Amino acid sequence: MLTDKTVVLGISGGIAAYKAADIASKLTQAGARVEVIMTEAATRFITPLTLRSLTGRPVVTTMWELASEFSIEHVALAEAADIVVIAPATANIVAKIATGMADDMLTCTVLATKAPVVVAPAMNVNMWENPVTQDNLARLRARGFTIVDPTYGRLASGKIGLGRLAETETIIGTVKQVLGRNGDLAGKRIVVTAGGTQEPIDPVRHISNRSSGKMGYALAEAARDRGAMVSLITGPVSLPEPVGMEIVHVRTAAEMKAAVAKATAQADALVMAAAVADYRPKEVAPTKIKKDSAGLTLELVRTPDILAEVAGNFVRVGFAAESENVVANARQKLEKKQLDIIIANDITAVDSGFDVDTNRVIIIGREGEEEKLPLLTKREVADRILDRVVELLNRG
Ligand code: C5P
Repeated sequence: MLTDKTVVLGISGGIAAYKAADIASKLTQAGARVEVIMTEAATRFITPLTLRSLTGRPVVTTMWELASEFSIEHVALAEAADIVVIAPATANIVAKIATGMADDMLTCTVLATKAPVVVAPAMNVNMWENPVTQDNLARLRARGFTIVDPTYGRLASGKIGLGRLAETETIIGTVKQVLGRNGDLAGKRIVVTAGGTQEPIDPVRHISNRSSGKMGYALAEAARDRGAMVSLITGPVSLPEPVGMEIVHVRTAAEMKAAVAKATAQADALVMAAAVADYRPKEVAPTKIKKDSAGLTLELVRTPDILAEVAGNFVRVGFAAESENVVANARQKLEKKQLDIIIANDITAVDSGFDVDTNRVIIIGREGEEEKLPLLTKREVADRILDRVVELLNRG
């Protein structure tokens, strides 16, 4: 994921600096080598020792520590960086980097680096709204910096407004997206469906299934991290929304079909990881069905088979969740739905299938070839599937 990547994390001096500890920790857990540079003001809010402990790396707080064993040349980190992230970025540091100042290690590094820079501002709402701050941010955007906008909520001043540091997941998602933008799916449009659909019975009840959306979300994120423009069409799930992609929320199979038709109009590939309901109640009761009779019979009718019916010339990937004759059934679906590849998984295993973070799948291609993967995380499975999609796209 972020293995082999050097992330320079710049921390400037706002109260949100304490949240940088979480960012440093999660980046490190994701495999990155995290080099922290703190401004003098940041060290008043959080100690360098905290960051050092979390990253296992020396923390730079000054340019003038030449005698120390940790002394480093003032542009060394600028050159080592695969990406520079400033979180939190105060109005002051935004102004300094927008005008090319270089009066401390962080601003020097930003000025000297050729790596992409992600800036996550956090400040008082009035500072944020001040036109001078907005002008500075617009200048940074125009120069190719990526800004992770602050969120709305309670600020340290007690005021409610825009200015809270974006969530750690949003910042790290942006880092992954920026690092992956020249990946092997750069310029490709990938549509991914995820989650189960819900088919209403009445205003309070529906028919659904156990799909958590984890496989689809992992695919969407993996495609984003390899440079793709991703449309994620998702049924109702309880996963956080990934950043850096278009997200379309749908409920029923019919809504999903319409969203897929629209998104695939220009797509290079469609990956249908969603567990689409196969049946829906024929009639939806306009009011809540009373439980006064002894039983209830629902008449169900088929939903559209999205994958089989969507028109267009793009790579088609389907999933086959099976509980018996896994490969044979999957092959039949591949034929019937005219797919390029199908991912077969045995949903009776406890470590694969619904609602777990791992999956054990067999990738079956049109020419009949079978690739049996070991137990992997859903993210690893996603990347293996995308390897195949890349192959098919390159074949033309
Ligand atoms: O036929 P089955 O439902 O097992 O096929 C599974 C594959 O077909 C999955 O990729 C699923 O997303 C897709 N599908 C669909 N529309 C349906 C049912 C399944 O696109 N109505």
